[in-house]
Amino acid sequence: MNYEDVCSVEEIPPNELRAFEVNGAFVAVAHLPGPNGDAAGGTFTAMEDSCPHAGAPLSDGHLEPGGCGEDGEPDVHGATVVCPLHAWRFDCRTGKWCDAPKGKVRVETYPVKIEAGRVLVHVPD
Ligand code: FES
Repeated sequence: MNYEDVCSVEEIPPNELRAFEVNGAFVAVAHLPGPNGDAAGGTFTAMEDSCPHAGAPLSDGHLEPGGCGEDGEPDVHGATVVCPLHAWRFDCRTGKWCDAPKGKVRVETYPVKIEAGRVLVHVPD
């Protein structure tokens, strides 16, 4: 699996997103904070940078704590990105549309790994 180096971990502060082009795809990389709201224990996620509603770049949205569970129940371990245009919400880890998590609408997500302080993202061919 080919991972592309997109940036250092310091380039995306906790609770922020950045846009990158990876293997020809536009990708929104999010820095989910750890339990204390800072970088300690945090993680990074990557998703396609286009809202399925009307195509707004999700990297221009903002993060809110809590993801979406299977039944629409909040999942405290995740985080959602809120679309900047009409505020649809997507789980950063799974791409599920939190307003209807059992539906078919979702955004593509991509594997991320951290190596030597760098954020690496895999977008399949
Ligand atoms: S374009 Fe994202 S909610 Fe409308």
